Amino acid sequence: AYEPFFVYSNTQTVDGEKSIVLCNLGILKCKFFSLTETPENYTVVLDEEGFKELQPSEHLKVESSIWLPLNVVSNGNASSSSQAVGVTKIAKSVIAPLAQQHVSVFMLSTYQTDFILVREKDLSVVVGTLEEEFNIYEEVGGESVPMLCQDVANALQKNAKEATRPTVHPVLIPQNQFCVMSLDPDTLPSIATTLIDVLFYSNGPKEDAQSSPSRDLDCIKFFSFSLIDGYISLVMDTEAQRQFPADLLFTSSSGELWRMVRIGGQPLGFDECGIVAQISQPLADSDISAYYISTFSFDHALVPEEDIVRVTDMLQNQRKEPAAS
Ligand code: ARG
Repeated sequence: AYEPFFVYSNTQTVDGEKSIVLCNLGILKCKFFSLTETPENYTVVLDEEGFKELQPSEHLKVESSIWLPLNVVSNGNASSSSQAVGVTKIAKSVIAPLAQQHVSVFMLSTYQTDFILVREKDLSVVVGTLEEEFNIYEEVGGESVPMLCQDVANALQKNAKEATRPTVHPVLIPQNQFCVMSLDPDTLPSIATTLIDVLFYSNGPKEDAQSSPSRDLDCIKFFSFSLIDGYISLVMDTEAQRQFPADLLFTSSSGELWRMVRIGGQPLGFDECGIVAQISQPLADSDISAYYISTFSFDHALVPEEDIVRVTDMLQNQRKEPAAS
């Protein structure tokens, strides 16, 4: 029995828009919905409209702050000779500066983009930090409105003085190969039963994994589905992928496979900052693409399969060196 969990964010909903109906999952009017299954639990991230649809349950643990999703529409700087995708593109311009300001983030990479969720209470610091490099817009009723930011400057911690050494969390590198895919929303009904089967009724590849002595050699149960602003994103391992009709899901032309680095031994909580920065920074230095998905308990980075050895070495070195920034 899994305990379902969720976090929710308050994206604005467009008035009068048609509801997005996610078949049996019963999510109505929700414009931001993400569900991720991990061995520990299910994580749901959804907007207020979606939250209202949920039945109250004693099994639901709610991270009760309101989180706002940010995303970078175009990182229009010329200096990006980089081919890398995912959080690697925003590691230096967004993730590192926020970590420096002690802003805790919650990441949700999708096929289409990378959402950086920040607490509503941190918004002025976030805006103050990012406005040097970005024009910041707020989405109001489906429209982008330039964000007015008064007295933001004083919120910033000019002091980088407490260069607290970041906690280095243990990582786990499961064996599965993952794909990051999308789907035409019109065809969602035709895969809905498979989706529900895979999410809720499959035992996955690892049955006896718990008893295995070397856990690093095992596969992990991990499946993520999101429907955000009408765009669907799916992250699943190749085993789950085989259960879906081959012609409906699509991935980028290169069709690459990804390996996972799961970050955290103990549940990471929501207050610590700099975890994403710690992982994404070295990846950006080496120009290695990465998707990054935070869940209720742990963080998960996905890196191209061919880079997993390099990434493993890199993380291992990070552990040996004292506080490399
Ligand atoms: N707050 C962390 C950071 O700022 C990332 C999220 C970790 N927590 C979690 N429950 N996944 O780097």
